[in-house]
Amino acid sequence: MGALRRAALALAALLGVSWAVLEVHVGTSLVFSVEGQQAVLPAWYTSHSQNEPYVTWMLYKTTGPFQILSYLGGVVKVEETDLKPRMGFLYPIHSHNISVFINATREQDSGQYMCSVNVVDDTIRLDKNVGIINLTVLGKAPPVTLHLPWPSPWCPSGLTPVPAVPPAAPTCQLHGNAIVGANVTLSCSSKKGKPSPMYQWQREPPALQVFFPPALDRARGTLKLTNLSLEMSGVYVCRAENQAGSKNCSIVLEVHSTSTKAVIAGAVLGSLGALATIIFFAQKVVGYRRKKRDSQEEGANEIK
Ligand SMILES: *[C@@H]1O[C@H](CO)[C@@H](O)[C@H](O)[C@H]1NC(C)=O
Ligand SMILES: *[C@@H]1O[C@H](CO)[C@@H](O)[C@H](O)[C@H]1NC(C)=O
Ligand SMILES: *[C@@H]1O[C@H](CO)[C@@H](O)[C@H](O)[C@H]1NC(C)=O
Ligand SMILES: *[C@@H]1O[C@H](CO)[C@@H](O)[C@H](O)[C@H]1NC(C)=O
Ligand SMILES: *[C@@H]1O[C@H](CO)[C@@H](O)[C@H](O)[C@H]1NC(C)=O
Ligand SMILES: *[C@@H]1O[C@H](CO)[C@@H](O)[C@H](O)[C@H]1NC(C)=O
Repeated sequence: MGALRRAALALAALLGVSWAVLEVHVGTSLVFSVEGQQAVLPAWYTSHSQNEPYVTWMLYKTTGPFQILSYLGGVVKVEETDLKPRMGFLYPIHSHNISVFINATREQDSGQYMCSVNVVDDTIRLDKNVGIINLTVLGKAPPVTLHLPWPSPWCPSGLTPVPAVPPAAPTCQLHGNAIVGANVTLSCSSKKGKPSPMYQWQREPPALQVFFPPALDRARGTLKLTNLSLEMSGVYVCRAENQAGSKNCSIVLEVHSTSTKAVIAGAVLGSLGALATIIFFAQKVVGYRRKKRDSQEEGANEIK
């Protein structure tokens, strides 16, 4: 990335301006299908970039998220799941419509599907490059539970449905010494929330990066960063979410070439104004870059 473009990105971040922001849209967040029929998960994205996107579709199950379909460099890859022979993209990717179909649906196809799009030269705002659709496949017989009197004979008395509670603002922490070549773990934990919140870590633009398992443990909220390099410095945001809501926290990771103070601060974003947050980010990014450049020059001088 050229210095000019970097400066422009920093300036845009500073002003809160975003050009060419990539966004994923979904036609609906709830799709219903009847067993045996075809289901379509409608999603598309907008971007001013002409570059090839990297598109993934994931399915979240109780056992965790797994990738089911992806598109990269002109190649559609369908992962080895029981969906494999039955699913695919509905349209050519260059149409920017990344809808998928699932033929001959089964009840176990039900779940939360998430698509995400990344384009190398496009700016991404957290959350905007993902689309989430819940698929519910109904058995051919009407679902029995819908007609049950409450309390039902299968639910021991005393157990009443618990209303969902949104997560409390999580705490972001760094474990380990952030020096080049080392490993560190970022942890994120919310004290409240019902059902237990799931966690997502993301590194903020301009070097946006979305993390996936196994580096990310969505249930525990940990993100393992291995073999640190100076380039991995940046602002990392963790979002804790459940069906009732989401809260986030952030941490500035500053990787050092020698072991000095590792982390500037953890900041709870939720309580900061958007502008303050943006300026904070931009300063960190600019500051980090300056630092990095200085340290590289120092290195060069030493060699002489
Ligand atoms: C993408 O395809 C889906 C499914 O056919 C459709 O519902 C949606 O309107 C399309 N989106 C656009 C922007 O054409
Ligand atoms: C899915 O069903 C459609 C319509 O019945 C059919 O045209 C298509 O070939 C099927 N695709 C797969 C992968 O089974
Ligand atoms: C970092 O983690 C990797 C993979 O988990 C491991 O192979 C390596 O030994 C670790 N390095 C250090 C310095 O702990
Ligand atoms: C760690 O990163 C450096 C430079 O990025 C690379 O040369 C080295 O092979 C990496 N080590 C491991 C264990 O991945
Ligand atoms: C989709 O499913 C997830 C997980 O079951 C749930 O937390 C979420 O609230 C659902 N979304 C909608 C819009 O119903
Ligand atoms: C963090 O939460 C605040 C609201 O509490 C929201 O305005 C902001 O967009 C969130 N930031 C991220 C990066 O998710």
